[in-house]
Amino acid sequence: MEIIERVSQLNSGMKIPRIGFGTAASPQNIIQMKQAVATALKVGYKHFDTASIYGTEPALGEALSEAFRNGIAKRDDVFVTSKMYAADHDDPVSALKTSLKNLQLEYLDLYLIHWPINLRKGVSHPSPKEEDFLPLDIESIWRGMEQCVELGLTKSIGVSNFSSKKIGDLLSYAKISPAVSQVLLRWGLEQGVSVLPKSYNSCRITENYQVFEWSLTEEDHEKISKLPQKKIVRREGLINSTTSPYKTIQDLWDGEI
Ligand SMILES: NC(=O)c1ccc[n+]([C@@H]2O[C@H](COP(=O)([O-])OP(=O)(O)OC[C@H]3O[C@@H](n4cnc5c(N)ncnc54)[C@H](OP(=O)(O)O)[C@@H]3O)[C@@H](O)[C@H]2O)c1
Repeated sequence: MEIIERVSQLNSGMKIPRIGFGTAASPQNIIQMKQAVATALKVGYKHFDTASIYGTEPALGEALSEAFRNGIAKRDDVFVTSKMYAADHDDPVSALKTSLKNLQLEYLDLYLIHWPINLRKGVSHPSPKEEDFLPLDIESIWRGMEQCVELGLTKSIGVSNFSSKKIGDLLSYAKISPAVSQVLLRWGLEQGVSVLPKSYNSCRITENYQVFEWSLTEEDHEKISKLPQKKIVRREGLINSTTSPYKTIQDLWDGEI
């Protein structure tokens, strides 16, 4: 069995645990989140993934701070990621400070630009209206992200849902290079990336972390490599012919779809 390291080194010098606990779906209540986080910490998860738009920062923050108070975990031993929402791109520092307040943390380990789109303040609908789009200037957003690192509010910064073309453009002007661009579970690990299974169910949280204890066969790899690739989260709602920087789905993903 191929041994897979449980952490990877980022270009920022920080280490990222390879399995993250996803929180994109809201828990039924705070108790469910607290139980799920306590189980996750017990079985070995050290990386927690949230985003401003998921609405789970406060519940995750409460669950983590209870775990810190009870001595189940220490802040420095866990890796917390959050993502900036597209209507907050005018001021990444303020957006991150709000996330930190929600999460009851003094710093994040990783802060990401969630989507390469710029929306009017207060817009949260997944399919924004034409008037909700603002001109997109990724360079100026990235300057704000860099400031977040300089102020010690986050250890690393990165992107999510960026095509490799957009990442290439970003690298041409970044003073601080993105450390992460946020895949299937074991397959993803064997490709050398970190993965984020989401479950609030104790058995499945445990089962998902046992991914280090088994491996895919050559035959499995061959079958997976032949599966047609399809992006599940395509976000057609971000396309319009007038105000969006993306007139077609191919534009949004730079043909990488
Ligand atoms: N950057 C981005 O734009 C982006 C986009 C998508 C996702 N993400 C991150 O990735 C995480 C995962 O997202 P996803 O879309 O892959 O997950 P998902 O579809 O939101 O949730 C996974 C589903 O599978 C179930 N499940 C989990 N483990 C299972 C198991 N071992 N057997 C059977 N069912 C199982 C969970 O239910 P139970 O809870 O009942 O177990 C849940 O309903 C998110 O929470 C988020 O943190 C980021």
